Amino acid sequence: MDEVSQIREKIDLVSFISEYLPLKKMGRNFTVVCPFHSEKTPSFVVSPERQIWHCFSCSKGGDAYTFLMEYENIEFGEALRILAKKTGIELRQSEFRKGQSSLKEKLFEINKLSLKFYKYILLEHSAGKPARDYLLEKRKLNKGIIDTFDLGFSPNTQSSLSDYLVKKKGFKPQDLLDAGISIQRNGKLMDFFRNRIIFPLFDHRGNVSGFSGRSLNETDMPKYINTKETPVYHKGSLFFGLNLAKEEIKQKADVIIVEGEFDTISLFMEGIKNVIAIKGTALTEEQVTLISRFSPKATLCLDQDEAGFEATKRSLLNLEKKGLTTNTIVLENAKDPDEAIKKDPIAFKKALKEAVNIYDFLISAYLSQNPKDTIEGKKKITQNLLPLFSQISNEIIKEHYIKKLSTNLDTSIESINREIEKIQKLTQEKIVPQSTDKRPRREILEEYLLSLIIQSPKQKETLEENKKLLKDYKFEVPAFLKILDSLSVYFAKNQNFDNRLFSNYLDSSLQKSFDVCFLYPLPKLDTFEKWSLEAKKVSFELLNLYAKERLKEITDEIKKTEDKESAKALKLKEEFSAVLRLLSQKA
Ligand code: CTP
Ligand code: MN
Repeated sequence: MDEVSQIREKIDLVSFISEYLPLKKMGRNFTVVCPFHSEKTPSFVVSPERQIWHCFSCSKGGDAYTFLMEYENIEFGEALRILAKKTGIELRQSEFRKGQSSLKEKLFEINKLSLKFYKYILLEHSAGKPARDYLLEKRKLNKGIIDTFDLGFSPNTQSSLSDYLVKKKGFKPQDLLDAGISIQRNGKLMDFFRNRIIFPLFDHRGNVSGFSGRSLNETDMPKYINTKETPVYHKGSLFFGLNLAKEEIKQKADVIIVEGEFDTISLFMEGIKNVIAIKGTALTEEQVTLISRFSPKATLCLDQDEAGFEATKRSLLNLEKKGLTTNTIVLENAKDPDEAIKKDPIAFKKALKEAVNIYDFLISAYLSQNPKDTIEGKKKITQNLLPLFSQISNEIIKEHYIKKLSTNLDTSIESINREIEKIQKLTQEKIVPQSTDKRPRREILEEYLLSLIIQSPKQKETLEENKKLLKDYKFEVPAFLKILDSLSVYFAKNQNFDNRLFSNYLDSSLQKSFDVCFLYPLPKLDTFEKWSLEAKKVSFELLNLYAKERLKEITDEIKKTEDKESAKALKLKEEFSAVLRLLSQKA
C-alpha cells in the first residue's frame, strides 16, 4: 500500500471531521450543516462505513485529504504532510516530502522573506528611523507590540527588496510579480510597497498571505494599499490579527471586530486580545464562515461614521446566515476604537461590557434619526428595519424585536408582520433557492433509483426487480448503468452486499457516483414492501419518460423519410409500436 492510502486507512473520518464540525448521528451516517456554503438544514453527510463525506447541496465530497484541502484552503501536498504528521506515518516515497514546492508554498516563502526584510529595515536600519518615530511617538506603540504584530517598513527606494530577493535569494522576477511584492515599470522590477509602514496579513494558520502598507505622510494617498489578489491573498477571506487572536476568541467565545490595523493593535495593547480587523469593508460570507469556527458570537466595533454604520448593516445578513449572535458597541466622542481607547481605556472597556444586541442598536439608531410620530417617520423607520428583521432566523428573537418596534411606533404587531411577509415574498422571488436540482428529470430519477437499490435492505432483490423492468430502458447517465451492471456481476457471485468486496467489482471512475448514491438521503420507508414499491414507481416513471422522448424522436424521423414505405420507414414504425407497448406497461 502506498503512503497516501496508508495514511487514509489510519484515519477514522468521523472522528477526524468531528475535530472541525459538530457531527450528529443520523441513521448509519453523520450529518452537519455544510461548512462550505450557507445553509440551515444539514446536507453534509459522513459515512463511517465508506469513510467518505459528501454535501448534497454543493456536491463537494471525498476523503480526509479533500476535506482538509477544502477546509484549510491548502493543496494536496500540504494536506498530506499534515495528515502524515497526525498519523505518525513518515513520508519516504512521496515526491511531496520536500523540495518540489507548489506555487502557493513558493509565494508564502517569498512573503516570509519579505517580512523579515521589512522588519529589519524598521527595527535596525537607519532608513527605518522615520517609521520608528511615527509608530513609537505618534501612534504610541512600543517595541514589544511592534514585534508581536511583526510590523515592518518598506524603504523609500525603487527596488531594494526586489533586488534582494532576486540576487540574494534566487527568485525569478515572475515569482515576485506573482506574489505581488514587485510590479513592472518600463520593463524593470520595482517594489510594490515604498515608504510605507508594513502590516503583515497572516492567514489563521500563520502563513504570511500578503501585506498592507500605510503611508507615512498623511498627504500621501491612498492612505492604505494592500497586496493585490494573489493565489494566497484574497482580501475578502482574511482578517488582520486572527493568527494572534484565535485562541483568545475561542476562550472568550466572542470576537471583537474592528475596521483597521491600528484599532486592532490598540485594543490588543490594552489587554483586549480577541480582536480582529476586517480592513475597511463589510464582513463577507467567507469571513463569517471563518470566524464561526471559533466563536458563536461577534461584537462589532466599527467606525462611528456613516460608512461604519452601513458596514455594520451589511455585515448583518452574513452573520445572521451563519447564526452568530451579534452585539455592537457605541462610542462617545471618538471616530474609531483606536482613538477611543487611547483617550480613555476605562470608558472603552465599559462600553464593551455594555455592548448591545445589534437589533436593539439599530432600532434606537433609526428611532433617533426619524420622528416616530409622523407618517413619514414611521415609513422610514420600518423601511429600514423590516428588511433586516425579516432575515432573523430564530422566530422567538424575531418576534421579540417586532414587539419592541410595535410598542415604539404604536402600531400593531399584525401590520408589521404583514409588511415582513411582503418583503419575504419579494426576496424569495429574487433569490433562486440553491437546493433546487436543475439537472434533467431523468438524471435525478436515475440517481434516486440507484440509491434505492444500493441502500435497500435487500439489495439483490431490489436490483433484480428493477433491472427486469428497465430492460428496454436507455440510461441518460451511462455511469449509472455501469454501476447497475457491476452490481449484477457482484450478486452473481455473492449473496450479501459487502462494501470492500464490491469495490473490486467497481471501476474506480465510478466510485464517486456510487458514493453519492450510497449516502443519498432517502425518505423514510419503514417496510421492505414500501421500499420495493417506491423503487418500482421510479422505474416506471423513467420508462415512461424515456418512451415519450423516443416516440417523439421516431415520429420526427418518420416525417423526414421521403418514401414512407421504405425499409427504413417500416423499421421505424415497428420500433414505434414496440415503444408504445413500453408506455402501456406503466399501469
Ligand atoms: N483601508 C484600506 N484601504 C484604504 C483605506 C482603508 O484597506 N484605501 C482599510 C485599512 O485597513 C484601514 C481601515 O480600512 O485601517 C479603516 O480605514 P480608515 O478608518 O480610513 O483608517 P484608520 O484605521 O482610521 O487609519 P489610521 O488610524 O491609520 O489613520
Ligand atoms: Mn478608522
